[in-house]
Amino acid sequence: MSKVRIGIVGSRFQADCIAASVKAMPEEMEVVAVASPTKGNAEAFARRHGIGGFYSDYREMLRDPAIEMISITAPNRLHARITIEAAAAGKHVVCEKPLCVTLEEADAMIDACAKAGVLLLYAEELFFAPKYVKAKQMADEGAFGRVHLVKQGEKHSGPHSDWFWDVEQSGGGALMDLGCHGIAFCWWFLGKQKIKSVYSQLSTQVNARRTSADDEAITIIEFENGAIGMVENSWNRPGGMDDTIEVFGDKGQTYADMLMGNALPTYSEIGFGYAVEKASSTKGWTYPVFEEHWNYGFPQEMRHFARCVRGKEKPISDGETGRVVMEAVHAAYASAGLGKKITFPFRPKGIAKPIDLWKKPELAQAAL
Ligand SMILES: NC(=O)c1ccc[n+]([C@@H]2O[C@H](COP(=O)([O-])OP(=O)(O)OC[C@H]3O[C@@H](n4cnc5c(N)ncnc54)[C@H](O)[C@@H]3O)[C@@H](O)[C@H]2O)c1
Repeated sequence: MSKVRIGIVGSRFQADCIAASVKAMPEEMEVVAVASPTKGNAEAFARRHGIGGFYSDYREMLRDPAIEMISITAPNRLHARITIEAAAAGKHVVCEKPLCVTLEEADAMIDACAKAGVLLLYAEELFFAPKYVKAKQMADEGAFGRVHLVKQGEKHSGPHSDWFWDVEQSGGGALMDLGCHGIAFCWWFLGKQKIKSVYSQLSTQVNARRTSADDEAITIIEFENGAIGMVENSWNRPGGMDDTIEVFGDKGQTYADMLMGNALPTYSEIGFGYAVEKASSTKGWTYPVFEEHWNYGFPQEMRHFARCVRGKEKPISDGETGRVVMEAVHAAYASAGLGKKITFPFRPKGIAKPIDLWKKPELAQAAL
């Protein structure tokens, strides 16, 4: 069968990752076009990655009949609109996390793709990260007995682009940006069972001058079988990206450090080009990674999505996954606003962005 032809929306951080990841597994897919509004960016990106088509308006790209699937790597506030337009144009959609900003948007995205008969694929790469997949395989084999606690942490020194810090564009802070990974991870690891409640402690510890968003977040999720997920996020950890899991059962446990655990403990007084995402220095002791995208699972994720388009596999991460995560994100902000556990289902209506439930607890109270 022919390769799935992909158009990327966006041309910066995550777009680079997706283009490189697709190139790493070329048997099933290829990137044929990119769209980005800033003058010259799409063309430069296309040159850099050897891509034939480039557009300044993604809507023009959507009219290209050669494109079968788009990958959305634009800011969060645009995910819903782009998805709905792409579905109307008959394109399958891979949407980066978080799925969107509001729960109404999540519903509309899922409906639009279902009506158009296209796939809505939610890009949660932790479901494909080799170390984390191995941990889940062992857990599913029974290696740890009954798993009662799963922890996931993602922490770094803060986002690279201004829009993440502007809650009107992002919808929230470290919890929205990084916590969506941990929530999805715990849910997936424990077999996608229902969430019973969410509790979250949020604060702005370091960046209050720059943002009204949370830069520290601790979230506890209670699942239907009584197991607990614990998600820790920060925008205040210098030294490079920190992505870890811990899994505990009555018969054993496992720990994984995705990046540092696969890195080269290195000392250099001179420094070198690149150690790991968000590391500000390569002098002194550092942990340079290799196969960074592979360790996260990005190439494996895109290959899975391409195979789903060809009907060879069934999506393990879709619009419903993104909606579960969005509901938990909303509950976490509401919990921080009210200082109490939020029980599920939690479907607040008319909330412009999740962080409002923290900043205006009366909105959270009204939604209970
Ligand atoms: N899965 C992951 O681990 C991961 C990692 C990084 C980012 N992301 C997600 O990917 C998305 C993009 O993040 P990023 O880090 O690449 O941000 P970025 O700021 O580096 O890039 C955003 C891109 O979107 C483009 N853009 C802005 N408005 C647009 C429009 N109207 N049409 C088309 N393109 C437009 C910008 O020009 C830019 O190229 C976010 O939703 C983010 O949460 C996911």
